[in-house]
Amino acid sequence: MIELCMDRLKNKVALITGGSRGLGASIAKHFFNEGAKIILCDIDIKKANEIANELNGKAYFMDVSDSKNVEDIFSNIKSEFNQLDILVNNAGINGFENRQDLLDDRMKVNNLQNKEFSETGKINSHFDVTVSMTDDDWHKMIAVHLNGTFFCTREALKIMNNQESGSIINMGSVLGTTGGPSSPHYSAAKAGILGFTRATARELASRNIRVNAIAPGYIDTDMTSSLGDVKKIVKSATPMKRFGVVEDIAWAAVYLASQESKFVTGQTISPNGGFVMSQ
Ligand SMILES: NC(=O)c1ccc[n+]([C@@H]2O[C@H](COP(=O)([O-])OP(=O)(O)OC[C@H]3O[C@@H](n4cnc5c(N)ncnc54)[C@H](O)[C@@H]3O)[C@@H](O)[C@H]2O)c1
Repeated sequence: MIELCMDRLKNKVALITGGSRGLGASIAKHFFNEGAKIILCDIDIKKANEIANELNGKAYFMDVSDSKNVEDIFSNIKSEFNQLDILVNNAGINGFENRQDLLDDRMKVNNLQNKEFSETGKINSHFDVTVSMTDDDWHKMIAVHLNGTFFCTREALKIMNNQESGSIINMGSVLGTTGGPSSPHYSAAKAGILGFTRATARELASRNIRVNAIAPGYIDTDMTSSLGDVKKIVKSATPMKRFGVVEDIAWAAVYLASQESKFVTGQTISPNGGFVMSQ
């Protein structure tokens, strides 16, 4: 439910990657309600078009991991809008797409470890994720999250640098800080995004371009819908005992995109129900 319309982003042009559903779509809707013109870039162009139509915006097919595709689309955007005020690097994958078997295995090992430890004080079952990870799985994760964030930022700067203003928001994750026992590639990519955020924030401060990250805790979206029993474990480890909703992240993005955060750069905001309490 979006309650307020404050025109915080009036006359701003905002590009959101992975904006066809989940966190990206909610961020787009909140930005629209605050007066922004919306550009959605996604590999799911059908859904991106649907959301863009709802928001009087524009959608482009873009695979953020494809440097040439990213360059071409930003070049079109530059010709069409000649303005870009907000970039949200949000597109992402969790590595379990069409791999319920992997998730089930991880859950089985988790349960076995708990049982073994409580019965014998020793653990004999192991996740063995890193030792069995393929090059393809590793590269794909890094390509979508880390390369994608770099490619889109590089192209956005070709527009923002001339304006001497802008807000870039990178989607991290609590797993970039805490690590996740079954997602070394995801955790590495998200930790890399937090480092990239800090470095570019320092670099771009002189151009009046702010760069910040959001590191969500577990939020109910398509990405987390298949987590099954993992949800119970996360909820019990979360002081608020629940998953977040997409609006919890969208409001953080509105804050970072707007002038209300004009003294904030190089920071990570982490709506996570208390799951992690330090950065
Ligand atoms: N949901 C959570 O609990 C959670 C927690 C922490 C971080 N995140 C991060 O937030 C972001 C959004 O997550 P979500 O839960 O909305 O996920 P989601 O799976 O619902 O949406 C991801 C979107 O990214 C798009 N996408 C995937 N690969 C792409 C590519 N190569 N190029 C362009 N678009 C691509 C998908 O089509 C989809 O629209 C991701 O970066 C995710 O890692 C999510």
